[in-house]
Amino acid sequence: MQQLVFATNNAHKLEEVEAKLAGRIKLLSLNDIDCHDDIEEIGVTFAENASIKSKYIYNKYQVNCFGDDSGLEIDALNNEPGVYSARYAGTHGNHAANIAKVLESLGDNSNRKARFRTVISLIWEGEEYFFEGTIEGTIRKTISGNGGFGYDPIFQPNGYDTTFAEMTLEQKNNISHRAIAVEQLTEFLNSL
Ligand code: IMP
Repeated sequence: MQQLVFATNNAHKLEEVEAKLAGRIKLLSLNDIDCHDDIEEIGVTFAENASIKSKYIYNKYQVNCFGDDSGLEIDALNNEPGVYSARYAGTHGNHAANIAKVLESLGDNSNRKARFRTVISLIWEGEEYFFEGTIEGTIRKTISGNGGFGYDPIFQPNGYDTTFAEMTLEQKNNISHRAIAVEQLTEFLNSL
């Protein structure tokens, strides 16, 4: 069976891709290939960061692989926090502080349009392919819901009256930016 390395150790992301591959390709994590390097995300776009990860793995191990990068873009903040989404308030992964910074920066601004974006860079037999998923929505003025992670408590997708954090994981995973990008990736892989 062909193998594919996902440049992550995030169990939720691995599970989501694995489910869509339906056993056709064996998915490996960074731990599985004994890669414990800190791959620095120094790009200024999601595509650059996704590509940094896939190319790092390809150059070091010469295997089929892909990397992803995601984040939140807010129109009124010139698309910030963007690639800095995980560390917007300074410390990596401090979601409460990141949310507080977004709410403070937006203040009473009536333009609350935003989107989550995911870009995947796949290197398959030496060729690079990109896949992308976005979901449009608005930023609430206050937090709502306990589910999900990151900016979920303040993001309301268009066409819904709840935030991502008020949805079940299944509901969110049906419509999310990541799900759309992963769907495109797996459609490509399943058509090979
Ligand atoms: P990653 O590239 O998927 O690790 O995402 C980087 C950062 O973007 C996360 O730490 C979150 O702050 C934000 N983010 C990405 N996807 C989501 C999501 O589905 N919900 C909320 N925040 C997200």
